[in-house]
Amino acid sequence: MRKLLILFIVISTVIIFKNTTYAELQGMNTDELVSIGKEVYDRKGCAGCHKIAGAGGDLGPDLTNEGNILPHNIQWHKDHFKDPSSVVPGSMMPKVDLLEREAEALAVYMISLKSTDLPKDIEVSIKTAHEKLGEARKGIDEIKKSGFNVDALEVKYAQGWTRLETINNMIYTHNLAGVSRETDDAVNITREIMQDVLSYQKELEHRVIVSIVFIVLIVIIVVLVFLKVLTV
Ligand code: HEC
Repeated sequence: MRKLLILFIVISTVIIFKNTTYAELQGMNTDELVSIGKEVYDRKGCAGCHKIAGAGGDLGPDLTNEGNILPHNIQWHKDHFKDPSSVVPGSMMPKVDLLEREAEALAVYMISLKSTDLPKDIEVSIKTAHEKLGEARKGIDEIKKSGFNVDALEVKYAQGWTRLETINNMIYTHNLAGVSRETDDAVNITREIMQDVLSYQKELEHRVIVSIVFIVLIVIIVVLVFLKVLTV
């Protein structure tokens, strides 16, 4: 009985402790989180493999502009710290052992690393292209389910991704010349896909309407024939 009580106290303390530290974290502003993240970054020796603003090793990618790499949101970073190769197949980065709050702060720090030479409007366009491509994926999957051939759309979708990857590479290598053209292309491709998806959806609606009209006609004919038979 006493053992159970002790166990209960230990578990509740752990839970309360975890919650308070998490609540403390939630009350913090981004600057505070970033400075904790920086401290974790130094303590865990990340700089042995990564460069930020010219300082650090070369084994991993340069993280100077990591916040501009779009698919890498907070969750992506947390999953990546926990088990890099589950997120980036074949990753050579070792797993990082972190408390939840350390992982959160480190992720916020990663996202805060943004190129100052990337114009704001381009940053917004990249984000738009990225979101549109996500919508396009859903749209393509939907019309695929309805039996349409989506090969051409898949090709465009892959082109869209290639553009976004090129943009990411430009950001990694701090080589931003031409980034606005790539961004325009990416946005245009995603727009084209969305237009195609829309016209497929219209076509689908059209088919549905035609089938309904057809069914109604058949019902009318059947009823008429039936009435005729009855009156004969
Ligand atoms: C032994 C070397 C090594 C250490 C130490 C290391 N990394 Fe990495 N890291 C890599 C390699 C290699 C990659 C590329 C493969 C991948 O993305 O997982 C990478 C990728 C990354 C990426 C993704 C970069 C991108 O945009 O693709 C981030 C973010 C990152 N590391 C952060 C960290 C942080 C934070 C630490 C410290 C807790 C750390 N790394 C420690 C080697 C390392």
